[in-house]
Amino acid sequence: MSGLQQKIAQTVAVLEQAVREFSPVTFANSLGAEDMVLTDLIAKYRSGIDMFSLDTGRLPQETYDLMQKVRDKYSVPLHVYCPDASQVEAYVAIHGVNGFYVSVENRKACCHVRKVEPLKRALAGKKAWITGMRREQAVTRGSLEVSSFDADHGLQKFNPLLDWSNAEVWEYIKANDVPYNALHDQFYPSIGCAPCTRAITPGEDIRAGRWWWEDPQNKECGLHVGKSSALKFTAAK
Ligand code: ADX
Ligand code: SF4
Repeated sequence: MSGLQQKIAQTVAVLEQAVREFSPVTFANSLGAEDMVLTDLIAKYRSGIDMFSLDTGRLPQETYDLMQKVRDKYSVPLHVYCPDASQVEAYVAIHGVNGFYVSVENRKACCHVRKVEPLKRALAGKKAWITGMRREQAVTRGSLEVSSFDADHGLQKFNPLLDWSNAEVWEYIKANDVPYNALHDQFYPSIGCAPCTRAITPGEDIRAGRWWWEDPQNKECGLHVGKSSALKFTAAK
């Protein structure tokens, strides 16, 4: 068995465990390269896991194009959650439409309204959620586990691609003809909202283009780093 085949088998086993022990299970799909691997694996091997995307309202056009492709290609429905309109209006009234550039607090407040609050709705009633996080992506992700209790959201959390390398993610995508975000071919290895993501230059860290104006220790949006975590932040309401 090749290295990649082994990783696939381990990942499918984790997905099966999640369904067996923690149904109903949902997959948080950002449509990034890792999440496209999981989309393909879930569609092929593991029915019983549904998936959702958080549409912040500020995603790049290329991400919306891929969202449409996923809907057309895969049988697993992609549920799309939008931010609460009155919370967005209040944020914009206080901080301005691009207020997230002003301070880390303002930026995390925007992520709170556009991602964290919709995530709570997406996870309501679920017993586990699945993400595409990998250990080598960031200094903030080194101590993650494949399966652990997520005390912030009150359910089990699985990171089935935790030990995949970037090369393995792309080997899978190419070998299985998986659709992917066109921005990945334009030096965007990690993609979030359009105003908070830029291309990287050769040799830069793969998340260097995310919130590039901030310190690397701050580069989480609150989806994965919450109240009970060692890496704390205060999100303005
Ligand atoms: S993050 O800082 O934006 O959270 P990243 O883009 O590396 O980081 O995403 C990590 C994981 O969080 C993804 O694999 C996915 O499971 C989840 N995630 C991030 N953004 C979204 C989104 N917009 N919709 C659904 N899930 C998301
Ligand atoms: Fe707002 Fe930027 Fe966070 Fe998107 S990534 S929710 S635009 S601060």
